[in-house]
Amino acid sequence: MTHQAPALTPEQKKELNEIALQIISPGKGILAADESVGSMAKRLTQIGVENTEENRRFYRQILMTADDRVKTFIGGVIFFHETLYQATDDGTPFINIIKERNIVAGIKVDKGVVPLAGTNGESTTQGLDGLAERCAQYKKDGADFAKWRCVLKISATTPSALAILENANVLARYASICQQNGIVPIVEPEILPDGEHDLKKCQYVTEKVLGAVYKALSDHHIYLEGTLLKPNMVTPGHSCPTKYSPEEIATATVTALRRTVPPAVPGVTFLSGGQSEEEATVNLNAINKCPLSKPWALTFSFGRALQASALNAWGGEKDNMQAAQDVFMKRAEVNSLASLGKYEPSIEPSTEGEGGGEGEGEDAANQSLYIEDHAY
Ligand code: 13P
Repeated sequence: MTHQAPALTPEQKKELNEIALQIISPGKGILAADESVGSMAKRLTQIGVENTEENRRFYRQILMTADDRVKTFIGGVIFFHETLYQATDDGTPFINIIKERNIVAGIKVDKGVVPLAGTNGESTTQGLDGLAERCAQYKKDGADFAKWRCVLKISATTPSALAILENANVLARYASICQQNGIVPIVEPEILPDGEHDLKKCQYVTEKVLGAVYKALSDHHIYLEGTLLKPNMVTPGHSCPTKYSPEEIATATVTALRRTVPPAVPGVTFLSGGQSEEEATVNLNAINKCPLSKPWALTFSFGRALQASALNAWGGEKDNMQAAQDVFMKRAEVNSLASLGKYEPSIEPSTEGEGGGEGEGEDAANQSLYIEDHAY
């Protein structure tokens, strides 16, 4: 094999590693607020709010202006293009608000999933054309990390070898382009929870997919210390009749990661994947308490499981802003605790929602957030 010239200078590597470590410093995770305009339409319709640019801006303002304690729970925020350039009512760009709190700005750079012809409903993700130019511009505009989501499905015939290979390769191309532009790539190969499969099956597929992803990242000379992985937790299919404990889910998840993810990767930031808010928190906590040795930070990069209660508490009413911020802070705080393995479901965190009684908030946190064939 011919010698490969290093793809990055020592200075570039240092910068990428420092960004990754800052995002996942102890007790911190990521707020995934990068729903596309189409995904926001679904979220806002659920609460009877029109999907206008102003409503999307106002809702994001609620999250961005939550009280200062958020900086101890959240290390990174993923924006959608539109949101990266939006500002609060008084004209302060969202990105300035989070940066003042030492929170790293991220940007969703993929352009969505598209069908892989000839497969049984499988997909790849598009968006490589012009990606280098977009990354260079986003870096100038203050973004230091990016996200690209690929999707795999479990059924009798999927994921196919083609889907595993193609998605691993496109994630590696994306990661390479990001790193060349000083942007830490979050590598997200999401295995959807749709189906009746059991925990073992999800673990098996997760190992095959992650194995292929790290082979592709190696082939593309990716500097692993300057990346983060955003996988699904290993869970049974949404329609699986067998129920598993958080400890069983944790063992399956950590085992799959230990078999496939090199220790050079600084952090694993799980997506919530349609679990209820509480389920995602309890499972993250169990993962961190799992006695197997774990060489990476294991934290959250939740979308639905950080926002669902906040969205409901807001309900499109300006007057509910504080109540929405309170429940958002509560989810951020419990997930921060879970990322340290210190979450005790019986202990109420210090932030309590004002909107609705205690019981109401708990019910909302236990509601399934599953969406069939989820797109982002
Ligand atoms: P969920 O936590 O809602 O699964 O979304 C996280 C995400 O960013 C998916 O790409």
